[in-house]
Amino acid sequence: MTSAPQRGLPGTRPEGVQDEKEAAAHVREMFGRIAPRYDLLNHLLSLDIDKLWRRRVAQRFRAVLRDPKTKVLDLCCGTGDLAFAFRREAPGGAEIIGADFVPEMLVRARAKSAASAAKIEFVEADALSLLFADAGFDLVSCAFGFRNLANYERGLQEIRRVLKPGGAVAILEFAEPRGKIFGALYRFYFRHVLPRLGGLISGNAQAYSYLPSSVRKFPDPRELEIKVAQAGFVGVQYERWTGGIVTLHTGRKG
Ligand SMILES: C[S@@+](CC[C@H](N)C(=O)[O-])C[C@H]1O[C@@H](n2cnc3c(N)ncnc32)[C@H](O)[C@@H]1O
Repeated sequence: MTSAPQRGLPGTRPEGVQDEKEAAAHVREMFGRIAPRYDLLNHLLSLDIDKLWRRRVAQRFRAVLRDPKTKVLDLCCGTGDLAFAFRREAPGGAEIIGADFVPEMLVRARAKSAASAAKIEFVEADALSLLFADAGFDLVSCAFGFRNLANYERGLQEIRRVLKPGGAVAILEFAEPRGKIFGALYRFYFRHVLPRLGGLISGNAQAYSYLPSSVRKFPDPRELEIKVAQAGFVGVQYERWTGGIVTLHTGRKG
């Protein structure tokens, strides 16, 4: 059964979960369980397009990334793929830190870092209560993580707090495509095929049915643009990529 979208929620609320604390615990536990198959499934279920999306974000911020005096924070970094895309775009450039609140993800990110020349620090941190000082970063990114926060407003406040004045935010997220035919095909894939495949391979069906349902409940791109601007960012804009299945929101700390 498909429930109606509940956009306007203060943050993610997985099925059967009422409050913020429970939502965060649920998300943490879920990502801990799928961490061993996370990379494989990401690439398989997106037919490797996820790699292009991350590379495109890195290219967009090439100037910041290439400057060795800058500091970049990749929030909700998971196994580190956006942080690695940043490093590939700028070997020897910015200092890059990846942060996530699931140790099982960080173990994998660190192993990938150790097996490469990437030099990225991965730290355990909750995006809603970051351990970093104010105004330390030139760029804060978040790929496919923001939607999972239990409180979007607080997530944005924390991003803003740790950014230097003029620093940039980049949020890459899934969205529901608008095109009639492509939209219908994609929804069928996303709501019916992906949860089954993801469930089979990861052994966690719940996590892969959470994915489409969390995208359905997430603010649409225009609503998210407004939320980001209301949080005190300037020059906020977004782009739809790949027929609108992902969006990149960007802005600067005013
Ligand atoms: C879908 S994964 C995305 C991982 C990675 N950014 C990528 O592009 O593949 C979402 C990640 O967000 C992390 N996450 C969710 N809520 C978080 C929070 N409050 N603080 C830190 N990490 C969080 C999860 O642990 C998970 O690793």
